[in-house]
Amino acid sequence: MEKLKIAVCGCGGRSMAHIPHLKDFEEVEVVGYFDIRPERAEEKRAFVGTGKVYRESVEEMLDDCRPDALYICVPPDQHGAIEMAAIARGVNFFVEKPLALDMKTAEAIRDGAAEKGLITCVGFQDRYLDIVRMTREFLADHTVAFVDGSWVGGIPGAYWWPTYATSGGQIVEQNIHHFDLSRYLFGEPKSVYCAARKGLVTREGYDLHDVSCAVITFESGVIADIYTGCYVTRDHPGYKNGLRIHCTDAEVDYQLRNNVTFRTANSTQNFLRVENHEEAINRAYIDALKAGDQSLVRSPYADACKSLRLTLACNESIFTGKVVEL
Ligand SMILES: NC(=O)c1ccc[n+]([C@@H]2O[C@H](COP(=O)([O-])OP(=O)(O)OC[C@H]3O[C@@H](n4cnc5c(N)ncnc54)[C@H](O)[C@@H]3O)[C@@H](O)[C@H]2O)c1
Repeated sequence: MEKLKIAVCGCGGRSMAHIPHLKDFEEVEVVGYFDIRPERAEEKRAFVGTGKVYRESVEEMLDDCRPDALYICVPPDQHGAIEMAAIARGVNFFVEKPLALDMKTAEAIRDGAAEKGLITCVGFQDRYLDIVRMTREFLADHTVAFVDGSWVGGIPGAYWWPTYATSGGQIVEQNIHHFDLSRYLFGEPKSVYCAARKGLVTREGYDLHDVSCAVITFESGVIADIYTGCYVTRDHPGYKNGLRIHCTDAEVDYQLRNNVTFRTANSTQNFLRVENHEEAINRAYIDALKAGDQSLVRSPYADACKSLRLTLACNESIFTGKVVEL
């Protein structure tokens, strides 16, 4: 059987959530690596043991190794030309969140990929969690009233993280996972209002808000408030991140990628995550490529655009002080 050829653009930290799985899948061969810091591409090639490092451009790589799919793991402000290079050559792509920092770029990519019938996947791996599957099954039998969620921590080390211009801010770059999961669990949002504050984090070159609260109204009637913060210090006792889902006859406590608890009048059940969701998202994408079937992917580009839209609307609300209708 001929192997599926994969190339990787952007060989930093996140690429290693995918490369080890691609290396392990027997029907896959990693054939190319490109990074503006070639030593990072060399490092990943040495880890996998197959393929070639390209030094000039992503276009050079795509034209030479002709992959079936491109994995794009670049910083948030680097999207656009890379995806367009893949689209122009009819190359399928897996792209890390956030998809872009503006809707114009994301929508052009979405439409280009659709026109070429490309199979896409966005790195919303939480949709592939076993405990999220269980949560969806549980909620099918219970009515959600409201939700409170949080993603609060410190400042990640990536060089591009501390400014809106390069990361999009913490909601767009990081807590987009909870916003996407909320769409996955509660349906489409109708409007959002977001308040945010500064003054807790003092560091040079940092222009983000330190903490925010987004209030989302969903078409279903569900309301959710989602907190996002990056102010905690190293000696913080530990914040419990996740979603607390309040139903008319039950409570669900989803703790980020770790466990979920379902409580009703008669029972309390706690489930730990067992499956590897990073492997699962890569497995799903490779299976979709093999079958030529986009429906095997739970996080296609066109759908992920709506999560980007929701998080960008939070930023818009922070800066205008107004409710944003979606
Ligand atoms: N799904 C998740 O849970 C998750 C987790 C972490 C990061 N991410 C996302 O993954 C993306 C990458 O994050 P990271 O942590 O790997 O960052 P990183 O800084 O560790 O790696 C990014 C790499 O891209 C390279 N690069 C920059 N511009 C490039 C360009 N134009 N062409 C080719 N290479 C380029 C950099 O040299 C660097 O090696 C970000 O969008 C981030 O939000 C997703």
